[in-house]
Amino acid sequence: MSKRPAAAQRRSTRPTTKIPSKSLTRSKGQSGRAVKTPKVLRTVAALRAALAPYRAAGQSIALVPTMGALHRGHIALVAEAKRQAKRVVVSIFVNPTQFAPTEDFGSYPRQFAADLKALTEAGVDAVWAPTAPVMYPEGFATRVAPEGAALAGLEDRFRPHFFGGVATVVTKLFTQVRPDVAVFGQKDYQQLRVVTQMAKDLDLGVKVIGLATVREKDGLALSSRNAYLSAADRAVAPTLYRVLKASAARIKQGEPIAMVMEEGAAEIGHAGFAVDYLEARHAVTLAPVESRGDGPIRLLVAAKIGKTRLIDNLAV
Ligand code: PAF
Repeated sequence: MSKRPAAAQRRSTRPTTKIPSKSLTRSKGQSGRAVKTPKVLRTVAALRAALAPYRAAGQSIALVPTMGALHRGHIALVAEAKRQAKRVVVSIFVNPTQFAPTEDFGSYPRQFAADLKALTEAGVDAVWAPTAPVMYPEGFATRVAPEGAALAGLEDRFRPHFFGGVATVVTKLFTQVRPDVAVFGQKDYQQLRVVTQMAKDLDLGVKVIGLATVREKDGLALSSRNAYLSAADRAVAPTLYRVLKASAARIKQGEPIAMVMEEGAAEIGHAGFAVDYLEARHAVTLAPVESRGDGPIRLLVAAKIGKTRLIDNLAV
């Protein structure tokens, strides 16, 4: 009987595009200059062999962990990774253990060929794209169970399995790639706090960097899940950022936080969302805050419009 985690057994991960395990071809990018297709690595042994020469040459390595379906936000993470280190590895793995059975693992957008093209243009050195059996082989029996920010009562309240899955896969990505630096987006703010704490607590030797959220012109935070939005839902989606901005301004002006949050949640609800939460939290610990004196404040929101659940956040 298979010993892989139940979520991994239930759902298979198959890349939609067959790609060579290694590729080093040169072609012309959109800019017209010659670009080198990154090495695509499918096994831990191939990954380690590909990174060994960089290490031997004393070159620093940055990792950008992703689940693919790349957009401008991911490319901004890659640009930051290139500023931080000599070599850049991007991982693409739709991690089954961070999805509940009721969630969108099966329909999560998979577009490996397009992602590889974007990463070639962006100038990354290697793409780490393991399959589920490589990540969770027969007999896999270890999980990382984060506490602290992972139990803040935000995403964890609505997706109780999520941070265990993220912490486990990110620990594996860190130990597989052994990067000096890893770059995450601030859009998944609770995830960023959890991963930062985990890297510190487990002495993983990785500096975790959180990059500002990239937004559409109307303020909507870029997300692979925005592809699920209908035209009507897309039109009201920027409400989240508008309310975050207005709420941050009101709190800065000294209005009571509880009242601002209550009115903000009502406004998001009136726009047609089902609101999971709109909360003001300590920016580092994610503990609840009552007044501005309680520390640096981050506003965090999660709400569902139509079939799409969106999250966003903003510093006060
Ligand atoms: O933010 C994501 O895309 C995922 O949660 C991550 C960090 C790649 C882990 O699967």
